[in-house]
Amino acid sequence: MGEAFFVTGAQGCIGAWVVRKLLQRGATPWIFDASDDRRRLRLVAEEAELERARFVRGDVTDGAAVRAALERSGAKRVIHLAGLQVPTCRAEPVKGALVNVIGTLNVLEASRACGVERVAYASSAAVYGKSEDDALPVDESVATEPATHYGVFKKANEGNARVCFLEHGLSSVGLRPLTVYGVGRDQGLTSDPTKAIVAALRGQEFTIRFGGRTDFLYVEDAAEAFVACAERAPAGAHVFNVHGESTTVAEFVAHARRELGAEAERIRVDGPPIPIADAMDGAALERAIPGYRAIGLREGVERMVEGFRALQRAGRLGEVDLPS
Ligand SMILES: NC(=O)c1ccc[n+]([C@@H]2O[C@H](COP(=O)([O-])OP(=O)(O)OC[C@H]3O[C@@H](n4cnc5c(N)ncnc54)[C@H](O)[C@@H]3O)[C@@H](O)[C@H]2O)c1
Repeated sequence: MGEAFFVTGAQGCIGAWVVRKLLQRGATPWIFDASDDRRRLRLVAEEAELERARFVRGDVTDGAAVRAALERSGAKRVIHLAGLQVPTCRAEPVKGALVNVIGTLNVLEASRACGVERVAYASSAAVYGKSEDDALPVDESVATEPATHYGVFKKANEGNARVCFLEHGLSSVGLRPLTVYGVGRDQGLTSDPTKAIVAALRGQEFTIRFGGRTDFLYVEDAAEAFVACAERAPAGAHVFNVHGESTTVAEFVAHARRELGAEAERIRVDGPPIPIADAMDGAALERAIPGYRAIGLREGVERMVEGFRALQRAGRLGEVDLPS
């Protein structure tokens, strides 16, 4: 059996790709998730491969359950992705804080108690709010002024992770992706570009509900950042942006049209920019993880479309959920 990695939220979009990567590396992912719906995992990984993963259904708000599962796994590396996205945190901020803040504290506390070497956890570019100067990519030294409860919760997690290092020596990396796209992405407002591709392949209309610029990150690159940081980030409590390509939603649609032709004619863009700085400086992560580099939007859209087309050829596009 390969090295154990404890992965919370592994039934989610980024989590499914993290699991795929760990299996490809010969590691054993321990999947800790409140859901036992394997739909996204099945979209990105082979059923036979998934037999090597271990599944624990559990809620990160239950500290004792997190600790018991982590202890059982024997993992020394933790990837913490479980969380609720912006729309849920906006509608139910107390529930959002419980899952996103207390849940993260439970994972950090369990990691400390179990002698974990390093935790890579999902923060978010939402910690930034809108930048003063839209032309400049933001780096990690920029002051964070989140415009959503979700962003405030992620910022609190970064503070708690830092204190866990200062007081107990627990090393961690908080990663701040922005608009992740690719097979498996279906939750949160920034999942609209991905959903537009699926709708186009099904011959349906779709309106992406935000415009302007954003930082587009291909899901496999997001997953690689989490795995690489859990494996080999330097000791300390770090926070890194994860930069893909900063461009307009209209440019995303142009790439989609290039890949899909007439099928993409019914994709529309109608909505305000999201209230988050729109360009990330990714240099600090690239310094911490030599060799890490995300692909550009053109290549990412190409890979995403190929992924969805392969599912379509296999008659499986109907398995992709398009929640509003
Ligand atoms: N996708 C993005 O563009 C993006 C950008 C920035 C940050 N993030 C963060 O990255 C993480 C993963 O994102 P994603 O897109 O894969 O999310 P997702 O919504 O697809 O998956 C989240 C997973 O967490 C699980 N979960 C939710 N509440 C839980 C709980 N109480 N206990 C255990 N499991 C629970 C869900 O069942 C789901 O499988 C999240 O923390 C998200 O906030 C995502």
